[in-house]
Amino acid sequence: MNPGLSLHQYLDAHAGTDPIRRAVIEVVAALAQASTEISDLIRSGALAGITGQAQGRNADGDVQKDLDVRADRIIRAALEPLPVAAIASEEAMESEILYPAAPISIAVDPLDGSSNIDTNMSVGTIFSVLPTPRDIRATFTQPGASQLAAGFFVYGPQTSLVLTLGRGVDIFTLDRGANLFKLIRSAVQIPADTAEFAINASNQRHWEPPVQAFIEDCMAGASGERGKDFNMRWIGSLVAEAYRILTRGGIFLYPADAREGYGEGRLRLVYEANPMAFIMEQAGGEASTGRQRILDLAPGALHQRVPLIMGSRDKVRRLERLHMSPDIKSEKNAPLFAHRGLFRN
Ligand code: F6P
Repeated sequence: MNPGLSLHQYLDAHAGTDPIRRAVIEVVAALAQASTEISDLIRSGALAGITGQAQGRNADGDVQKDLDVRADRIIRAALEPLPVAAIASEEAMESEILYPAAPISIAVDPLDGSSNIDTNMSVGTIFSVLPTPRDIRATFTQPGASQLAAGFFVYGPQTSLVLTLGRGVDIFTLDRGANLFKLIRSAVQIPADTAEFAINASNQRHWEPPVQAFIEDCMAGASGERGKDFNMRWIGSLVAEAYRILTRGGIFLYPADAREGYGEGRLRLVYEANPMAFIMEQAGGEASTGRQRILDLAPGALHQRVPLIMGSRDKVRRLERLHMSPDIKSEKNAPLFAHRGLFRN
């Protein structure tokens, strides 16, 4: 694809005359418009009345900041006139039915990473586009493998859109002068073998043995089992971590841990893990709980949490193998790893 192609030209080329695809591209275009508004608010911060102050708590008990609420409103207003059957948002307890006969439905995290807004750090909007099933009540219990499209906007030094329509991953950046998103990278591929990992290491004492073993061996570096040095990153913003992985590879983990309320990790399946997993797979990476492919899970509840391990394929697979080793304390004594050098990725 031509670098510099506008998002509208790109979407038009994808949709042709297919009615479901046309509904999908209308939604993506509307979200792009909404994201420019959100991006403007974030750029101006306190000058636009954004204080980063708590406004209450969302459905999952997370502190809701003023920008969470504004972003949610902007997105709902953008989607309201469109052929969308139902919308689910991190900011609302229940999904909302708009036009039940419409072919598609949307799940959205209007402002991911919002606990960090006041630190002037990259945050984002994540979305997942699903087909509307015959029984509309089953919309948000479909596995992620049903997604028609997924993407996220990162509000960072640049405002960018990472998008998959199910045929690879492309990245667009907002050209503010032209008020358009323009294609900057197409057919993004995550390098399979990398040496960067991201995890909130302050929770180390609460992790399960497979995660302990994996991180311990990364930390041991060149003198350990893996025989090479690793680099650690933790931004605390899922969209920023995912963007980094799409740019230079690596692995991200938000595993289950022993803290109260973290038995299934922290991230939400329907509007965080599923869209990220779809993007990772479309870019040649993988996403797993450690025990199961994320996209195969059938959500039991809208705000359900899920352990998320995503990024470079070899690293995700290594973690899956560690999860399959019953009495693992470290990679050294995991049966599948007994052969030093067999699985070195
Ligand atoms: O889901 C919200 C979120 O802020 C993610 O963007 C991020 O990956 C994670 O939570 C950070 O969690 P913690 O504050 O536990 O490091």
